[in-house]
Amino acid sequence: MLFHELNRSACKTYLLAADPGGAAVLIDPVKDHLDRYIAVLAYFNCRLEMVIDTHTHADHRTASWDLHELLGAPVVMHRRAPAPHIDVHVEDGQELSVDALRLRILYTPGHTPDGISIYVQDRVFTGDTLLIHGTGRADFAGGDAGAQFDSITQKLFALPDETLVFPAHDYRGHSLSTIGEEKRSNPRVAGHTREAYIELMNNLGLPLPEKIQEAMQANLSAIEDGSVQFPPLSKLSEVRQLSPAAVHNRLLHGSAPLLLDVREPDEFVGELGHIRGSRLVPLKELAAHAAELAEHKHSDIVAICRSGVRSTTAAAMLAGLGFDHVANLKGGMLDWNDAGLPVVREP
Ligand SMILES: [Fe+2]
Repeated sequence: MLFHELNRSACKTYLLAADPGGAAVLIDPVKDHLDRYIAVLAYFNCRLEMVIDTHTHADHRTASWDLHELLGAPVVMHRRAPAPHIDVHVEDGQELSVDALRLRILYTPGHTPDGISIYVQDRVFTGDTLLIHGTGRADFAGGDAGAQFDSITQKLFALPDETLVFPAHDYRGHSLSTIGEEKRSNPRVAGHTREAYIELMNNLGLPLPEKIQEAMQANLSAIEDGSVQFPPLSKLSEVRQLSPAAVHNRLLHGSAPLLLDVREPDEFVGELGHIRGSRLVPLKELAAHAAELAEHKHSDIVAICRSGVRSTTAAAMLAGLGFDHVANLKGGMLDWNDAGLPVVREP
C-alpha cells in the first residue's frame, strides 16, 4: 500500500493507493497545499480516484472542490454534510473501492454531525472524532460530546486493538498510535463515563479556531471565490430554529411564511426534493437578490437547505440586511424527508 501524510503540520492529509501507478484517494486535503498534492500524485503516477473529507472542517479551507475541478475526482462526504456539490454521499457501513483497497465508512459524529472514519486494512482515519491521546472538540458547529463518546467507544474501539490510528489533526507531535493504546490511555476517554466525558468536553473553554470565520462557512457552502460576505459567526446562534413538524404545522394551519430554499438548482429538484411553494434563491446569489424579497422584510421567512446549516447562514445574512422575521428549518430537507413530510421534485 502507498501511504503518505502530506502536510507535515497540525492538519493532516493522507494519500492512499494500493500501488504507485494506480488509483489514489486523498483524505482531508487542505486548500493551501493544492499544488503539492497534484505534484505528489504526478510523482507516483497515480490517478486521483476520489477525495474524501472526514467532516466539514472549521480551521482550514478544504481543497476537495479544487481537486474535483482540476482532476475530476468525485468528492465523498457523509450524507449529513451540509455542502452542495458532493458527488458521493456515504453512510455507516458503506464500502468504497480504490483498486484493491476496500475503504469501510464508519459514521462517527460528535465533533461535527457529518463526521466519518475510514477503515482500510490495518488502519483507521478518524477525522477529528478521535485524536492521538485526545479527541476533537465538540463545542461548536453542531458538535455533540455524547455522540462523540458513543462514536469512539462503540464504533472505533470495536476495531481490532492493533489498528493504527490516523487522525485529521495532531497538535503535539504524535504520529503513531493504535486503537488498543487509545482504549488504554486516551486521557479524555479511558476510564471515563459518558457523563464525565460530556462534562469535560463542554467545559474546555477553548477559543474558537483562528481561521473559523474564513474557513467554516466557505467549506459548508462550497463557495470558494470570495463572492459572498458571510455573516459573523456570533449571528448564527441567534437564528431561530424551527423543527420540520413546526414548519409543516404552520403551512397547514397558520399564515404561510415565505419558504426560501437556498440550495443549488440541482438539489432543489434532486433526491431530497423541495417543499411545495418554496422559492429558490441559491445562497451564493442571496445578497444580490435580497431587494426582490423586500416585501417580506417584516413578515415570516423560513430559510431551507440540505441539512439546515447553509440556511442558518442565509437567515443570519438576511437578518443583517434588515429582514426581521427569518427562521431556519432545523435539519433542512434531510430531516424533513426523514420525518416523512411531503416533497415535490419538479422545478
Ligand atoms: Fe475538525
